[in-house]
Amino acid sequence: MARLVAVSNRIPLGDNPSGGLVVALEDALRSSGGLWVGFSGETVENPADDLAFHEGAAFGRASFDLTPQDHEEYYLGYSNSVLWPVCHGRADLMRILPEYLEGYRRVNERIARLLVPHLRPDDRIWVQDYQLFPLAQELRKLGVTAPIGHFLHIPFPGPTDCATLPNPDELFEWLSHYDLAGFQAQRDLDNFAASARSLSDFAQLSDDRFRIAGRDMRAGVFPIGIDARAFIAEAERAREEDRMRSLTGAQIMIGVDRLDYSKGIPQRFRAFQALLDGNPSLTEQVMLLQIAPPTRESVDAYQQIREETEHLAGRINGQFATVNWTPIRFIHRPIPRNELAGLFRQARIGLVTPLADGMNLVAKEYVAAQDPSDPGVLILSRFAGAAEQMPEALIINPHDPSEMAQAMQQAIDMPLEERQARHAALLRCVVERDVGWWSAAYLEALAQART
Ligand code: ADP
Ligand code: G6P
Repeated sequence: MARLVAVSNRIPLGDNPSGGLVVALEDALRSSGGLWVGFSGETVENPADDLAFHEGAAFGRASFDLTPQDHEEYYLGYSNSVLWPVCHGRADLMRILPEYLEGYRRVNERIARLLVPHLRPDDRIWVQDYQLFPLAQELRKLGVTAPIGHFLHIPFPGPTDCATLPNPDELFEWLSHYDLAGFQAQRDLDNFAASARSLSDFAQLSDDRFRIAGRDMRAGVFPIGIDARAFIAEAERAREEDRMRSLTGAQIMIGVDRLDYSKGIPQRFRAFQALLDGNPSLTEQVMLLQIAPPTRESVDAYQQIREETEHLAGRINGQFATVNWTPIRFIHRPIPRNELAGLFRQARIGLVTPLADGMNLVAKEYVAAQDPSDPGVLILSRFAGAAEQMPEALIINPHDPSEMAQAMQQAIDMPLEERQARHAALLRCVVERDVGWWSAAYLEALAQART
């Protein structure tokens, strides 16, 4: 079997990774064997001219360092101040500087140079996410002929958002060098096809075949999953601990997200406020546990979202708290996965309310962690990729606080039988379409794209 070489910006060399990509890819590589290459997380003035290999995993891991300038321009700059906001419908938060794009191209070119000496002729290369769009083009320039696939973990922008990029045509040029472009949801594939239509040299050859700038490529939908069985086992083990219940008699609503403006945390807090406002009998009966470790803190928009959420939580707590009860508990740390699984299991309501999200793995983790005989209720934004697969959740518009508050009330009141029926359907999807299914389906399509 050909070796799988995965390349992603982030590679977990320490404990407690909190990004969905890290969690998913680790599972995929462990089961199929291979090499994972990514940024070490270290910035140094003079990075080495070769990859650094790391022991201690069931697959090979190799990392590279970045210079502070690369980190600023490629990671904080073009990746997270241009592509991330545009892909999440927040072009208003974009910061376009010419050096960002130059740095992004430069780092991708360097990663290709570092990778090539370690490639074998029969490798399959799987490039992950928006930080590395140009990598296939750079590898091809260096003579790599192996199959190269790309998977985008975040939403693909539609024509209006694409047009806000400083270089919309180049985005498609980058993608055209892949054999297969994978997306999370049908919505993303539709956006890809619709946005590409404005190119002068574009043709859609069939549902999944496209010609861009004279090159043929395939594109498809591969919704990412979780390691469902492992997460279920984790949640069952955690059951005995029951820590939160000893801390509070209230029903728990839980939110677990990186502190990102795409996650809709202020909207969630406002809906909770509307719920408490409209229903004084819920005093001391419910609490919102929000776990949100800060992320990309040197980008202004992330500092602002942190201030906004802290301020809002403080205001809501000031308005409703009693001597015995704090309605919103806001934790800014990553927490170990086994503890997370236990908290999901105890939470009567899972709140996944992003304004835009590629998939959202938390939605799947929440479902996997429930006790099937007495499951909680998932409230899910229609703008998460997961909504396409999980219609049995309470699907809401996160921009509408009264609709979300109503869903919270519906979840609190939901009879056991209805909770069981909804949960059984959701769990089936989470177990059948797990992370193993995702990587197998993608890699199979990559093999076919070549034949
Ligand atoms: P994103 O990839 O945008 O961060 P996802 O919901 O798809 O969003 O994936 C987030 C992953 O990170 C999930 O596996 C989730 O459990 C994990 N995670 C998020 N916040 C925390 C936290 N505070 N502690 C531990 N894990 C976290
Ligand atoms: C999302 C992105 C990943 C990214 C992760 C954490 O899951 O799709 O590519 O790694 O967020 O973000 P960070 O910037 O900390 O790597």
